[in-house]
Amino acid sequence: MPQIPSPQITHICCIGAGYVGGPTSAIISQNCPSIKVTVVDTDAKRISAWNSPAALPIYEPGLEAIIRNQLNINLFFSTDIDKAIAESQLIFIAVNTPPLEIIDTDCSGRRRGAGADLSAVMECAQRIARVSTSSKIIVEKSTVPCGTSHEVGDILQKYARSGVQFQVLSNPEFLSEGTAVRDLQHPDRVIIGSALQTASEAQEHLKYIYKHWVPADRIITMSQWSAELTKLASNALLAQRVSSINSLSALCESLGADIKEVARGCGADSRIGGDFLRASLGFGGSCFHKDLSSLVWLCDSLRLTPVADYWHQVLLMNEFQTSRFAQRILSTINVRGARIACLGFAFKEGTGDARNTPATRVCRELLTAGARLSVYDPKVPADHILSMLTEEAVESTAANSARVDVGYNCVSVCSRALEAIEGAQAVVVLTAWPEFRCINWEQALQTMPALAHIFDGQAMLDHEYLQKLGFQVVSMGK
Ligand code: UDX
Ligand code: ADP
Repeated sequence: MPQIPSPQITHICCIGAGYVGGPTSAIISQNCPSIKVTVVDTDAKRISAWNSPAALPIYEPGLEAIIRNQLNINLFFSTDIDKAIAESQLIFIAVNTPPLEIIDTDCSGRRRGAGADLSAVMECAQRIARVSTSSKIIVEKSTVPCGTSHEVGDILQKYARSGVQFQVLSNPEFLSEGTAVRDLQHPDRVIIGSALQTASEAQEHLKYIYKHWVPADRIITMSQWSAELTKLASNALLAQRVSSINSLSALCESLGADIKEVARGCGADSRIGGDFLRASLGFGGSCFHKDLSSLVWLCDSLRLTPVADYWHQVLLMNEFQTSRFAQRILSTINVRGARIACLGFAFKEGTGDARNTPATRVCRELLTAGARLSVYDPKVPADHILSMLTEEAVESTAANSARVDVGYNCVSVCSRALEAIEGAQAVVVLTAWPEFRCINWEQALQTMPALAHIFDGQAMLDHEYLQKLGFQVVSMGK
């Protein structure tokens, strides 16, 4: 058995200061005052932002206060990766693992879905092995395909200095953006996976950290393969619920039913439950797409084609939903030359993250059809919105040459919702930010031309009230 630092962990580090690494480390430091937590990253700008609590690189409710309390007490952010590795007994790897290019299926059933780009994870493993002069526990936190911990273990072993040994654990993160602090502080469960033959000692060390604040019966240990699959499966199951309710929303629109009523009726059955049954213009974010693609890819590579088909359909339904919403706008009003107010851009409320946001697709379709957009999101930085909409919109329109002047002139980013709405022909709700319910809609209507439309992609506004005011309302699932 490798030598594991004992009796307890005093120094840990987290490689990767992103949406997972930052909040996770903050919560550990808050709950484990005797442990020094160092978060390291190659991105010096990001590290400097973490060191300035007023300008954190990510928006996450409640996080700023924790950082303020712990910063430079037992929580440190640094670019000195080698030093942090050297002094730590346990190292979390929480770097990004973007999906590789999607490989579409063909009629002979070839692979679709996508593996993940694990180059950053493998780079970290090599670095840890090269730098470490003492044995360490390495904890895989990044969202990774099944089998990654095993590969990380192989690399660590290959490059390890003589006498230095590593134990690899898989400890997938289930935090949800926008509620990360609550999810981390009160997790439903903590999963710790490890290679069966070397399970106990390293798992105990990681458990020791979590037991500072997580009840022991919520810490579940299992094999590495099971832990990695649990992460993919959890996200796939959640995404499947969203796609299921979204598929029914299409049916509601044709039947004259209301998806909110159907979801409420179904969710009242305790066996079904009400969570993740909110119809929307589609799911986004860094995990659902990636994990589903990864699952499909895995199933295909194991020749489990019907299983791959099953999960692939969840992704296809999501694409259908987003494009259906955009088409509904385009078939209701003529957007050419019109200004459209887009409320929300983040992939969900409570975050400034716009990775894989369905808003991009809807906005691009509107731009391609000749609309001008005024976009407001309370947390996504303006330059981010512009870069996501303008460059690629130029590329996509250059290809079909329908419109060549898409660019910064066609997209303006506003700092208030009413500013975006003023003078717009229609309002499109793209993210379910609660503040949109509190907009002074009466005032908003007065600034809009006659026959003002609201397209509620999140089915979140009070439609009856808006109709009474005089808006033409088109909502998802109604
Ligand atoms: C998800 C998982 O919930 C989390 O456990 C995992 O660690 C990371 O992936 P996240 O992507 O942050 O978290 O957000 P989540 O709340 O799951 O929402 C994902 C997407 O689904 C969002 O675009 C959201 O708007 C959408 N969604 C969610 C719906 O459209 N309807 C719902 O009922 C719930
Ligand atoms: P996640 O949502 O999984 O946390 P992010 O993209 O928000 O992903 O954060 C991942 C972080 O990992 C980024 O800040 C990136 O700079 C960092 N990173 C990527 N590769 C490396 C590496 N080899 N060494 C250190 N940090 C890295």
